[in-house]
Amino acid sequence: MTISLTHQIPAPAVEPDSLSVWPASARTAPGGDLTVAGVSLTEAADRFGTPLYLLDEAELRTRCRTYTAAFPEADIVYAAKAFLCRAVADWVHQEGLGLDVCSAGELELAVTTGFPPEHIVLHGNAKSPEDLRAAIRLRVGRIVIDNTTEIARLATQVPAGHRQKVLLRVVPGVAAGGHQAVRTGTEGQKFGVSIADGSAQHAVEKILGQHQLELVGLHCHIGSQVTTVKPYLAALRRMIGLMARIRDQHGVVLPQLDLGGGHAVAYRPGEPVLDITALAARVSGELAAGCRRNGLPVPRLTLEPGRAIIGPAGVALYRVLTVKQTGGRTLVAVDGGMSDNPRPALYGVRYAPRLVGRATTAGPSPVTVVGRYCEAGDVLAEDVPLPEDVRPGDLLAVPVAGAYQLSMASRYNMVGRPPVVAVTDGRARMLVRRESLADMRLRDVGL
Ligand code: LLP
Repeated sequence: MTISLTHQIPAPAVEPDSLSVWPASARTAPGGDLTVAGVSLTEAADRFGTPLYLLDEAELRTRCRTYTAAFPEADIVYAAKAFLCRAVADWVHQEGLGLDVCSAGELELAVTTGFPPEHIVLHGNAKSPEDLRAAIRLRVGRIVIDNTTEIARLATQVPAGHRQKVLLRVVPGVAAGGHQAVRTGTEGQKFGVSIADGSAQHAVEKILGQHQLELVGLHCHIGSQVTTVKPYLAALRRMIGLMARIRDQHGVVLPQLDLGGGHAVAYRPGEPVLDITALAARVSGELAAGCRRNGLPVPRLTLEPGRAIIGPAGVALYRVLTVKQTGGRTLVAVDGGMSDNPRPALYGVRYAPRLVGRATTAGPSPVTVVGRYCEAGDVLAEDVPLPEDVRPGDLLAVPVAGAYQLSMASRYNMVGRPPVVAVTDGRARMLVRRESLADMRLRDVGL
């Protein structure tokens, strides 16, 4: 049975001037400017060009600390798919977090940056031979087995004398998450083995039969943009139930439990956010009670937040190129769009762009911010308030741009991907440079 706990996000009471979803360091500055970590957004745009992505290092570090303080007994592993570059790997490592990777690419980048492989967890519903080879070669701490096919495939790759620690990803049968595409806790989707139809038990038996693999625990990830604690508690109860059955049938007491990530952030003022401190209190209470009821020792928890660590630390900056009145609407076209941020097109996500760098007394007027890419669906923000006199040359800043934007960016129309600049204590430094036309031409080797 699937428990449906999907939360309908209510329409927020948007105050256009609120900085509530911006990094804590954001301040208004003279001339309509805004600073983040003491860096003027206007100056950053002039120096690095647009589109531009800024990452507030202190905001990201504070978010890591919120987790380590709320869950002092747990392993917090940052979900690299939200966004990864060398600096981010370094920051989260310094803050005591591990890393969740889902490809040889993320894994190699982290390890070659000095990230300790024993603190890395590898995921994937269809890990490629290259992913598995890299994981074994680099001695990744834990591999999450997603299906029965990969059990023997993985076991045969483990070198003699080594036992690979593995978790089993199970489907808890809990529906949660902000959009159909990011709900992963239910039957009938591609991740994990079902508890309900007995596949999880079958997989446990197969793993226990492979001496190269050491089953250390269970994993589940119910979805992304989950706004309430309740679905985590529902999933937790089911996981504890399965751990008790594994103990009864196989005499094995699993020492670890990974509850995945998915903690919601607000993209616009007034939207609901998952409260991490409340999550910690309720999860540890439920875990202790559930284990007591089942006569199990309390397993070590792992959590895998991605968006809640990096989303609100990111700001995207765009330059307005054209403004057009059509069909009773005002379309404000900027120099980025669906290629650097496919999220509005993919999930219907709403953002709150803001004019920066020019003082104006013009009142707010509803506009639609569109991108520069060659398709009508390239809309960044539908029906948002911007000053009535918005015009070409203006700078628009979009908060909460750190997660799943650049990591999902494409090169549609052969436009290079934007750079990433860190802002820290009044200084800006380049982390990832803009993709040039030469970068793109390099791969085109045939004629
Ligand atoms: N752990 C696992 C196994 C996951 O699959 C994910 C995300 C996470 C952790 C981290 O979830 P987070 O805390 O970031 O919500 N592209 C979509 C989100 C896809 C999430 C995929 N898995 C978006 O832009 O909303």
